[in-house]
This record gives sequence, C-alpha cells and structure tokens, in this order.
Amino acid sequence: MLDPEKIKERCNRRPQTREIAREVLLFDSVDSTNRIALEMASMGVPGGMVILAEAQEKGRGRLGRAWFSPKGVNLYLSLLLRPYQESRELPLFSLATSVALVKAIEAETGLAPRIKWPNDVLVNDKKVAGILLESESDGAQTPSLVIGIGVNVNMEADDFPPELRPIATSLKIALEKPIDRDDLLIALLDALADQFLLLEEGKKGLLIESVNRYSQTLGKKVRVDTPRQAFEGWAEEIEEDGALRIRLGDGSRRKIMVGDITHLREIKN
Ligand code: BTN
Repeated sequence: MLDPEKIKERCNRRPQTREIAREVLLFDSVDSTNRIALEMASMGVPGGMVILAEAQEKGRGRLGRAWFSPKGVNLYLSLLLRPYQESRELPLFSLATSVALVKAIEAETGLAPRIKWPNDVLVNDKKVAGILLESESDGAQTPSLVIGIGVNVNMEADDFPPELRPIATSLKIALEKPIDRDDLLIALLDALADQFLLLEEGKKGLLIESVNRYSQTLGKKVRVDTPRQAFEGWAEEIEEDGALRIRLGDGSRRKIMVGDITHLREIKN
C-alpha cells in the first residue's frame, strides 16, 4: 500500500511541493482519478489537491483509450491545479509533466527514460508512463486543470494484457528489481513542483530545452496521425508552444499540436 502520511510529510518539507500537494487523498479503488479530480474542480475545490488510487476500474488514456490500472503495483494520480497562466499556455503543463516524470524516474532508478511526443515516457523504447490533461471551467471560477499521470512501476511482463506487451513496460521489468512507489511519487511531486515553477516564472525556454534534450522523437522518421489527417515526415524540433515541427519529403514543414506519432526509423549518421 502507498503511505499517504509519509507522502504528505515529505511534500511539506518543500514550499513549492506543498503548493501543488496541499491535500493528498488515497483511494483503494476508483473508476478514474481524473474523473474524481474533475468532479472536485466542478465543486469549487481549490488547487493543490492530489488524488491517488491503488487501482482504477475505468482508467482513462489519451484519445479516448483506456489505461490499464491493476491494483497495488503502479502509480495512478491526478493533480488538481488552478494555474494563473492563460489557457493557451496550458498545453505546456503536459510537457512540464513529462520532463518531471523523466527526471524523477532517472533519479530514482538510474534508467534513461525518454519522451515520445507529445508526452509518453519510454524506457527501452516501450511506454512506461502516460499523461492525460483535462480541464473544467464553468466561467464563474478560476479555470482548473487536471493532470492525470499513470506510471507502470512494479508490474511483471505477464501482468500486461497480450496486446500491450510489445509496446509497454514497467520500471521493475527494466531494472529487474521492484521500486518503492512512495519514494518515486515523492520524487515526482518534487520534480513537478520545480517544472511548474519554471512556467510560473515565465521560463518556458528552459522547459522546451529539456523536452528537446530528453526527446526520443527528434531526428526520427515518423508517421503522424492527427484527428484530420495522416502523413509521414522527419521530426525536427519541439517549438516554444509545444508543437512538433515535421519536415515533409518535399522540404516543406508542418507544425502539429495534437495527434499521435509512430517512430518509423532513425537517421543514421
Ligand atoms: C495516456 O494515454 O498515455 C495517458 C494515460 C493517463 C493515465 C492516468 S492514470 C491516473 C489518471 N486517471 C485516469 O483515468 N487517467 C490518468
């Protein structure tokens, strides 16, 4: 079991972490921590709330997919924030979250995680963590932002459904030993607080620099699937607004803000 008292006590040690984790709630099993955080947002609950669950029955993934959420082995959390930034800046929070995930995983395990645009975290080319941003605004209050994070921590290879085995992994599989989930969560909340502070201070250049540094996507030939079209090209750079710039075969460039990409092959020097 996760230990909410230990988590709270450690979050209280750093003022910037305390800011995003003023309350930490742990549920045994819920449908979706994001759904609960959104409901709290609609009831006017202030920012700084962390909703954790040991299991989710209807874990939500990006693009309407499900997030596999078995009990007691992984991290499933949603942060409820009420950021001051304008709504067009909110997508930067998902990049900040992926950088925080990479830094926390790197520090706690010594592995070398990478970011697959827009915000999947990969270890050994397989997905180990995912992020789902959702927001709630009723016009009357400060808009809220819910950041949902799922990390495959201590799952065994056999725990994954067969269709996920080729594309997903866990930290335990990569490291060949179990990870303390409380320690990883505390490192993650500290790293999130640091990255959100950068955004608050208007230092998004530093954030984008980290995203580019940790990117697994740049330099790769990719297939892009957006809600409206599909095409192939070379991933060149992640821009200031978080968009991915793609160079097409005819030399023209396209910027994508939403979508899914598949890495096709690497440029060989
Ligand atoms: C993705 O598809 O990559 C995003 C996955 C996000 C999963 C997390 S688990 C905690 C939170 N609650 C949810 O229902 N989804 C997010």
